[in-house]
Amino acid sequence: MSPIVAKERIESLTAELKQHNYNYYVLAQPTITDYDFDQKLRELTDLEKEYPEYADPESPTLKVGGEVTKEFQTVKHRWPMLSLGNTYSEQELIDFDQRIRKAIGDNFQYVCELKFDGLSMSMTYEQGKLVRAVTRGNGVEGDDVTTNVRTIHSVPKRLGTGNYPDFFEIRGEVLMHRKAFERLNNERIEGGEIAYANPRNFASGTMKLQDSAEVAKRPLDCFLYFLYTDKPLFKTHWDSLQAVKSWGFHVSEHTRLCSSIQDALAFINEWEEKRFNLSFDIDGIVLKVNNYAQQEELGFTAKVPRWAISYKYKAEQVETELLDVEYNVGRTGAVTPVAILKPVLLAGTTVKRATLHNANEILRLNLHEGDSVYVEKGGEIIPKIISVNEAKRKPGAQPVTYLTTCPSCGTPLERKPGEAAFYCPNDEGCPPQIVSRMQHFVSRRAMNIDGLGDETIETLYNKGFLNHISDIYILKDKADELKQMDRFGEKSITNMLKGIEQSKLMPFEKVLFGLGIRYVGETVARKLVAHFKTLDRLKAATLEELTAVEEIGERIAQSLVEYFSGTIHHEELEKLRLQGLQFVAEIQEVVLQSDKLTGKTFVISGVFEKHSREELKELIEQNGGKILSSISTKLNYLVAGDNMGPSKLEKANKLNIPMISEDDLLKMIEE
Ligand code: IVH
Repeated sequence: MSPIVAKERIESLTAELKQHNYNYYVLAQPTITDYDFDQKLRELTDLEKEYPEYADPESPTLKVGGEVTKEFQTVKHRWPMLSLGNTYSEQELIDFDQRIRKAIGDNFQYVCELKFDGLSMSMTYEQGKLVRAVTRGNGVEGDDVTTNVRTIHSVPKRLGTGNYPDFFEIRGEVLMHRKAFERLNNERIEGGEIAYANPRNFASGTMKLQDSAEVAKRPLDCFLYFLYTDKPLFKTHWDSLQAVKSWGFHVSEHTRLCSSIQDALAFINEWEEKRFNLSFDIDGIVLKVNNYAQQEELGFTAKVPRWAISYKYKAEQVETELLDVEYNVGRTGAVTPVAILKPVLLAGTTVKRATLHNANEILRLNLHEGDSVYVEKGGEIIPKIISVNEAKRKPGAQPVTYLTTCPSCGTPLERKPGEAAFYCPNDEGCPPQIVSRMQHFVSRRAMNIDGLGDETIETLYNKGFLNHISDIYILKDKADELKQMDRFGEKSITNMLKGIEQSKLMPFEKVLFGLGIRYVGETVARKLVAHFKTLDRLKAATLEELTAVEEIGERIAQSLVEYFSGTIHHEELEKLRLQGLQFVAEIQEVVLQSDKLTGKTFVISGVFEKHSREELKELIEQNGGKILSSISTKLNYLVAGDNMGPSKLEKANKLNIPMISEDDLLKMIEE
């Protein structure tokens, strides 16, 4: 390679890898596989070695990776959070082992651990209490996400008795189990929100949320794999893992002490297949020299320890044939292309379909009819087509072209500026949209109507009984006609009608979510109802009034304004109102238990040990107290928990407002 070409390549790889680092760490939306990233990083490392004069001083090969996100307080790590060297080849593991033997001789052991595919977290404990949790960030400093980490059940907030030191730092990986990922991601898709590609992105996206109450709703787990103390407590990593486990931390049981690289390779081979039976994703195995004195002897390179390495599994890929491309029309009219494949075995399951995401993806792949395609199943649940084997393309094969009209109703498809998906705009006349809208309305998380399932909806639509959501509520007038239909027994009709009647009691937020307005998922519906209280006020809200509500962005506001401007929607909502559905927020009646706090005002801030903020609020109100929304001279008490915002603290100090703890408050009530 000529120096000019090398210079250009170094520059382009540097820019590209910086962007990928940003996508991965800051946006949690990587657009490249780990494998490809590592290959490129390697290429850059090699080129920089040969042409050091062209290396960027901030090269991604020098940085541990990532940048620090803005919204959280930045905290410097007491011990830098290093990365691990990694490899995809067994030979390189044997070379790694040789290097160690050369340095410290043959008398050592490896601890083999799963390489959890999540985000690393460093937690500090003082006197047995969790005081801080910080993300890796750029390895030197990260984000203080303590309040978010406190919501993780498997992370102890306070340790029981044990031989732990007064101060220690413990590191591990925060992750989301696959089942929870599927459930929550489906909820996002149903609400029209952008789906996460895999559990890792979901977990790291969750950690970046500002609202810890939202974090608490997303079940995360944390496996611990490293302990830092000021004075050495144990002789080996293995012993420290056992100790950490006895202090109440979650340590994986799938950890093995190996006496040779052959034993370690056996462990790696064992987990190559077994990993698919785990309830969470791993992307490899980590080998660590067990003895701390030996670790110290081996030391570090510029950015990774010489005593540890990770072996990464290649995402399994197979080649198969594209049989067809199908198009699904979703509830909101989005048309999603799906590749129909010749069935093939991949990562333990038979794959028959792969997602094609959108029209851009078809273009990117340059997909032709009957192509031979490579399919991969990495952390992703749904397999995807990685690339096409163009050498096998049949002569005369035609490119796959995206539809221009709806596959169901024939309406010309539309694309909104800045969006990748095409939509069928015929929401009132397109059968799959009508049917899935009603199916969504009756679903468990919306109106939860017993006795009216997906299939029944489809049948009743096909027979002309149901066309709009409001038709569900006039089925009761058609009981005799329904009885004439096949497979509709009297009992199931009675059950269904009873379920429909009962659903009229469902709270406004469920109704609002059930309407299936684009981007209005469960959380958004709840926030809107809490703010506007009635449908009439929500309907009348302007774009500005909507975006002023916490967590309601431009996109959601626009969608609401559009929805409420349709006359059909007005008529439909009126019909539902006449049928007695709830369009007003439930008033939570406060039952007074005592008047001990009457005349006193409170602001609650921070995280508490015994109660949630909501519970404390309720307690105060039940005892006659009043909650204020901000700190002012009218305030009597600030109930202060852990990690209270610094601005609140400052203001309270300035105004001389007494700060009380959770226990003080409880005492005031009990007295
Ligand atoms: S040890 C100096 N152990 O992999 C040693 N890391 O590529 C630091 N990871 O940043 C890490 N499972 O996020 C270690 N059992 C394990 C791990 C593990 C996953 C992650 C961790 C780390 C990255 C390094």
